[in-house]
Amino acid sequence: MNRFFLSLSRGTERALTLELQELGAKNIKESPSGIWCEHEDPNFYYVLALKSRIALHIYLPLYEFEISSQDDFYDEILKIDWDKHLSLDETFSITANCKSSVFTHNHYLALKMKDGICDHFFYRTKKRPDVDTKTPDKAFAITMNKNRCMVSIDVSGFSLHKRGYRLDSNLAPLMETVAASLIRLSEWDGEKPFYDLMCGSGTLGIEAGLYSSKRYLLQEKNDFSFLKWTQFSNDYYNQIVSKVVEETKENTTIYFNDISSKNVEVAKKNCRRAKLVNNIKFDVSSILDYKPETDSGLVILNPPYGERMGDETKIQKLYQALYEHLKQNFKGFRVSVISSKEEHLQELKFKPTKIYNIFNGNIKCRFALFDIY
Ligand SMILES: C[S@@+](CC[C@H](N)C(=O)[O-])C[C@H]1O[C@@H](n2cnc3c(N)ncnc32)[C@H](O)[C@@H]1O
Repeated sequence: MNRFFLSLSRGTERALTLELQELGAKNIKESPSGIWCEHEDPNFYYVLALKSRIALHIYLPLYEFEISSQDDFYDEILKIDWDKHLSLDETFSITANCKSSVFTHNHYLALKMKDGICDHFFYRTKKRPDVDTKTPDKAFAITMNKNRCMVSIDVSGFSLHKRGYRLDSNLAPLMETVAASLIRLSEWDGEKPFYDLMCGSGTLGIEAGLYSSKRYLLQEKNDFSFLKWTQFSNDYYNQIVSKVVEETKENTTIYFNDISSKNVEVAKKNCRRAKLVNNIKFDVSSILDYKPETDSGLVILNPPYGERMGDETKIQKLYQALYEHLKQNFKGFRVSVISSKEEHLQELKFKPTKIYNIFNGNIKCRFALFDIY
């Protein structure tokens, strides 16, 4: 079996586990910093990189060892046969993450590893490979937990939330991977209509559209680091891509709405960039005036928290009015709401079907699912 390690945003573990099960991963296990899984296919990471909407990075573990001092660490790095993973004409980067008393600064750990890699080449050839932190040919990672170290390689070389559709805006957008997690946790079938009614830049609606049409933007972006690796199997990768393209279908109707016409314009532009052009509808109104066009569907709401935008009492009043409005106009719908304030969610007096803890950036949030009868 081949092992893979996936990093993620805090609170998306459950959603990523469900996604990995669907992708056919085996022996899925949570760890404090991510999720491990296994597969009989050593190139399973092609599938993971193409199809995971929730993971941030996918790592192939290369070496694991224990150390008791900084010198030990350097010696272990020097011993690795780096020629198997890097050549002098390739650039590299290192991301470090340490929870250890041997190294207490990520940056210093990364520097020490860089020295070990460069010296490995320099002792024999008097040349060293160059570091490129932005677009490296090989993106290595070092994780240190107490005395235990893992050297791995990041297969994509960039964070997978960078789908490429989002325009810069000063809204408070959800990270694409977090939006995909909320959709997965809402247990949506991808067929019922989807309503992003406080859409801001449209991340939830766009992720829903991609999920519903089984499209994966990163495949279209074609930018993964592993595409340049010498062991890369073009034929095998193309087979996977062809299957992905074959399975693509028309998305269900996605409804976007926001009280701000400016935000709806941003959402429209982002949809175009994501090539989400069919079966989408845009409205500008307060959610309290919004009536759905269908009898059922999924609504996901990401109202202002009052921490980054909006003001506390106004938001509490909005939740109180929202309860009445949903009760009268959204019977037959599932409504999922993310908020950093438990007391706001409690203003929605429906009994939650499920509640999850999830982080939006550094903000600890609750995500509640309500079925409106
Ligand atoms: C936290 S932002 C949503 C961010 C969005 N999920 C994204 O990824 O860009 C909250 C949004 O709610 C909108 N909003 C606030 N009050 C509203 C109301 N009464 N009706 C509809 N939208 C409202 C704001 O204009 C803002 O765009």
